[in-house]
Parts: sequence; C-alpha cells; structure tokens
Amino acid sequence: MHSTVALFNILKKEESAPQERPVPHHIAVIMDGNGRWAKKRGMPRTAGHRVGAETFRNIATYCKNIGVKYFTVYAFSTENWKRPAEEVDTLMNLFRRYLKEAIETMAEKGVAVRVIGDLSVLAEDIQQLIADCDKEAEKLETPAIATLCINYGGRDEIKNAVRAIAQRVQAGEMQPEDITEDTISENLYTVGMPDPDLIIRPSGEIRTSNFLLWQSAYAEYYFTDVLWPDFKPEHLEKAIEDFNRRQRRFGGV
Ligand code: IPE
Ligand code: IPE
Ligand code: MG
Repeated sequence: MHSTVALFNILKKEESAPQERPVPHHIAVIMDGNGRWAKKRGMPRTAGHRVGAETFRNIATYCKNIGVKYFTVYAFSTENWKRPAEEVDTLMNLFRRYLKEAIETMAEKGVAVRVIGDLSVLAEDIQQLIADCDKEAEKLETPAIATLCINYGGRDEIKNAVRAIAQRVQAGEMQPEDITEDTISENLYTVGMPDPDLIIRPSGEIRTSNFLLWQSAYAEYYFTDVLWPDFKPEHLEKAIEDFNRRQRRFGGV
C-alpha cells in the first residue's frame, strides 16, 4: 500500500514537472508596474525600472530554458515620451546597457535579441547598438528569439504598414484587390514572427495600451496584480498553467 502511494506520488510529480507540460510558442509581456513598485518603497520611479530590467533578464532566460521559442516584451511605447525627461533618459540608458550585454553574450546564451518599433527617432548610438545586435543574432542557428518593443505602438505600426502598401499600389506594383491579411502582416514590424499565443500584463491594469493590436486577434490574455519587478518564474508558470487549461476555438466550435 505504502509503496503504491509512493509510486503514485513519483508519477504525479513527473507528470507535473515543468518540462513535461506544453509551453506557448510565443509569449508576450506588457512589462508594467515598475513605477508603483518603486513608489511603494519610497524610491524614485527609475529604481523600479532598474529592477524591472533585471526581471526581464530573468524571465527571458527562464522562457528559453523551458522551450518558449518567442518571447516579446513591451519596453517603451510611442506614448511613453510624455514622461519626465529624467525617466526617459534612465530607460534609454537601460536599453543601452542591455543591448551591449546582449551583443557580448548572445552567442553563449543562444538567444537572439531583436528590437522592433519606430527606431528612427532613437539616439544614433542606440540605433548602432541595435544594428550590431542584429548582426550577432544572424550568426545564431535556430535560436530562441527575445524581442524588445521600443518606441512601439500598434496603431503607429499599422499606419506604417498602410503607407508602405499604398506606396506599392501607387507605384503600380500591386492592385488594391491584391491586398490580403497576409500583405498587412508582412508589412508590420513583426514580419516573420508568429502571432503571440499568450499575452501577460502584470500590475493590475486590464488594457492593451496599444500593444500588438493586429497580432493579438486570437491571443489569450492573462492579467495579474503582481508588479513587474516582483514577477518571478512561478508567476509565469501560473500564467502558462492557466493558458493550458483554456480552449482556443479561433471562431470554430
Ligand atoms: C514600466 O512600468 C513600463 C514602462 C513604460 C517602462 P511603469 O513605469 O508604467 O510603471 P507604473 O505603471 O507607473 O507603475
Ligand atoms: C504600457 O504601459 C507600455 C509599456 C509597458 C512599455 P504604460 O504604463 O505606458 O500604459 P498605461 O499608460 O498604463 O496605459
Ligand atoms: Mg504603467
């Protein structure tokens, strides 16, 4: 009797071992709550962003280790320029530091780091770091892909796609009736990436804030009150567990 129970427990444990369950192919996160995390501790908002950047490193690595192929984070929106200059500067410096680190460690970690958004208005040196990052990423064979959305806005992205397509029509390269949903997808910053399966928003806000508007048509959303700097692998595991319990119908029955 005793040994049967023990065996059952071993089997049960194995069944629920993280590597045994399916993981979403593409997880995206709206990294939110850094400011409130800092405020709660009587610290400046920028301190929250520093800890949030650490959380991003940890969760990106964790995603790679459990077999998530695409991990995409919302790091800076087209609306975030409204924030105080000091806060924007801190965020830009954190991007600089992270990109430098990514260039140096990408080969060893096997995670290709990409940046998407309207990058044309970023500081020249950041644009250069992004270009260097792309060069390193190209060298990797079958990497996991971590994408940072910087100066990203879903509406801005769709507007740019519409412009690019309109230019092709104007140049006589295609007819309006040739425009398909794929034409639009192929003109977004996310070209070549699968749509996100699971979008997580920490910090208790229940909105998209302009993130992956086109791509999220059939994404599963997961909201949690946990603030991003407090977000741990166990919270990601809870989101995945929840995701695995859902039935995706894509409009079918
Ligand atoms: C981080 O969280 C998101 C970024 C725009 C970098 P916030 O800075 O929005 O934190 P809260 O929402 O004010 O708590
Ligand atoms: C969304 O968070 C943008 C990022 C996480 C980069 P915000 O904090 O800017 O969103 P709102 O203002 O609460 O909608
Ligand atoms: Mg916020």
